[in-house]
Amino acid sequence: MKLFDVYPLFDIEIVSGKGCHVYDNKGTEYLDLYGGHAVISVGHSHPVVVKAIDEQASRLMFYSNSVINPLQQRLAEKLGKVSGYDDYQLFLVNSGAEANENALKLASFHTGKSRVIAFGKSFHGRTSAAVEVTDNPKIVSPINDNGHVTFLSIGDIDAVAHELSKGDVCAVIIEGIQGVGGIRIPSDDFLRLLREECDRYGVVLILDEIQSGYGRTGRFFAHQYSGIRPDIITVAKGIANGFPMGGVLISPDFTPSYGQLGTTFGGNHLACATAIAVLDVFENEGLVDNAALTGSYLLSQLQGLPGIKEVRGRGLMIGIEMEYPAKDLRRRLIEEEHVFTGAAGTNIIRLLPPLCLTMAEAQEFITRFTRLLNEKA
Ligand SMILES: Cc1ncc(COP(=O)(O)O)c(C=O)c1O
Repeated sequence: MKLFDVYPLFDIEIVSGKGCHVYDNKGTEYLDLYGGHAVISVGHSHPVVVKAIDEQASRLMFYSNSVINPLQQRLAEKLGKVSGYDDYQLFLVNSGAEANENALKLASFHTGKSRVIAFGKSFHGRTSAAVEVTDNPKIVSPINDNGHVTFLSIGDIDAVAHELSKGDVCAVIIEGIQGVGGIRIPSDDFLRLLREECDRYGVVLILDEIQSGYGRTGRFFAHQYSGIRPDIITVAKGIANGFPMGGVLISPDFTPSYGQLGTTFGGNHLACATAIAVLDVFENEGLVDNAALTGSYLLSQLQGLPGIKEVRGRGLMIGIEMEYPAKDLRRRLIEEEHVFTGAAGTNIIRLLPPLCLTMAEAQEFITRFTRLLNEKA
């Protein structure tokens, strides 16, 4: 059988990783400023996480959601404490799209309505409702295109208020910081106004923190810079450092009922044990503070380098908008400087490293990146 060929690949086979480095099958070491797409939070193969997986796998990997699983409760308590949402409720799933799918479904159940407001350049996943609220017609198939969504511009609060006043909207969904859209930060004021308008019209505010959450921006959630509290927050990516998992944090205003949501694999024992170990490492190693520190260092060092049009971001979620298409630069970063980075659109390089990035590693990235930029200038 052949693989369904949907991914354009770099000709590199990564076989191991440690901290902020990965290694290919020829033994070459790469500095990882991409974190496997914002997934590696505590560092590759962190010993605490490996031990937790090992111990849990030899005890019990999975049993169904029809029996008590104390690991789910332990994770919920820890996550509530670390994130500042200890009064919220947690529903566990397997991916980011699934988290958004359930968030939108809950909003629709809660309000009895079905229209959603989303924003230009948004990305919320590839499943049915999640892809419908994603602003990219190329990945929305006819079966997903059900007319539930109105896309507005980030910052245009008058347009939001106008749409909400029509009375048929169940949810507004917005990323804490847009990732795929090119590291675009909704202003703190805009988030506060969104909260006000959602309150005025009884609309559910969903913050997609799948990429921007879990400490990446120097706060546990990016929206916490604005001081608002959304009704629903979705998480995935860094939650289990590469073990597939997602979660929906749900305000106490929502009352669950048996069977309303469900999943076979979501919240399984192995995933929960991994996610608990991840949060232990967050606390023991001060990773949220580290993301703030190394992130602001990177942001300051990147300003003014040759060929850079704009640098945007918070913490370790950084977009470098080049004056020219970035594809060749990214390729040369990998092949010549042995550095992995991400991309967004044609001109933007995305930095999404593990949150344990050290100052020395950040400096090393700047040295290697500057070398290429100077050659090109
Ligand atoms: C903001 C955001 N939401 C949702 C998703 C979808 O997550 P997943 O690929 O785990 O379904 C992503 C993935 O990149 C994302 O960045």
